[in-house]
Amino acid sequence: MATIDASLGSARTVRRADWLARAATFCFLSIAAGQLLFTAFIFAFYYPSSLSGDFAAWNSKPLIKGFVAGDASGNLFFAAHVLMAAVITVGGLVQLVPAIRARWPAIHRWNGRLYLASALMLSLGGLWLTWGRGTWMNLIGAAGITLDALLILAFAALAWRAARAHRFALHRRWALRLFAVASAVWFMRVGYMAWGIASGGAGIGRAMDGPFDIFLAFANSLLPLAVTELYLRAGANGTPAAKKGVAVLLATSGLVILAGSAGAWMVMWSPYL
Ligand code: HEM
Repeated sequence: MATIDASLGSARTVRRADWLARAATFCFLSIAAGQLLFTAFIFAFYYPSSLSGDFAAWNSKPLIKGFVAGDASGNLFFAAHVLMAAVITVGGLVQLVPAIRARWPAIHRWNGRLYLASALMLSLGGLWLTWGRGTWMNLIGAAGITLDALLILAFAALAWRAARAHRFALHRRWALRLFAVASAVWFMRVGYMAWGIASGGAGIGRAMDGPFDIFLAFANSLLPLAVTELYLRAGANGTPAAKKGVAVLLATSGLVILAGSAGAWMVMWSPYL
């Protein structure tokens, strides 16, 4: 009897753990759908103009600076930045597909190197665009994206170091944290749209200086990072209740992401294609 109880107990634990895994898969698929829409926009809007040198076409969309006549280095940095934006977005999704890691480890390794290189270029280039070129609407927004760049650089170094040392469990944890913060720029757009749908835009200032703007300037990296952390902890040694709680959180996040991504496509991206 005791044995049956124990095995039933472990079967229940497995089922609960399954819910965590299923919710994580749903959340990842929602992220993938939203990030593929972002990538489609980058390929369709920025690739033709940047690769053909028609930089002035960027400004057909509202930007803080975008193309500036006479600023050759700033324009080139911007072009490199938007070209790399598609690389990191697709690259991050490819890294997280378990079947690719299991069946084609060489793709995981080479795409991983490309992902780390693009993370380095986007964060260092982004820091230069922000502080060197002076692309910011307010200092709080600039501080928020700077924090994101520093987190990307730190987590990229830690994920790379753990992979080099063949400490794969540790590598997985740093790589997931890196994915969370490297997706912050996309989370910000999705966050604005999800909040806009839910609240009608409460707390959003004209110069992106309202309470919600200030919150999202930091939450775009810290919120996904906190959810990732809860997921990692629940998966590693969470109680059944904790696993259930995190599964609900991931499923809800997935729904919010789907709504925000659909909104971003309709309002921020597709009108400019
Ligand atoms: C790591 C992932 C990143 C991606 C995928 C990404 C993507 C983009 C995209 C698509 C744009 C064009 C603007 C738009 O159409 O909305 C852009 C512009 C810009 N990004 Fe990033 N970015 C990333 C990281 C960063 C970081 C870490 C910083 C700052 C430290 C940064 C600073 C900027 C700046 C200043 C602009 C110019 C905005 C303007 O002129 O209006 N980016 N980025």
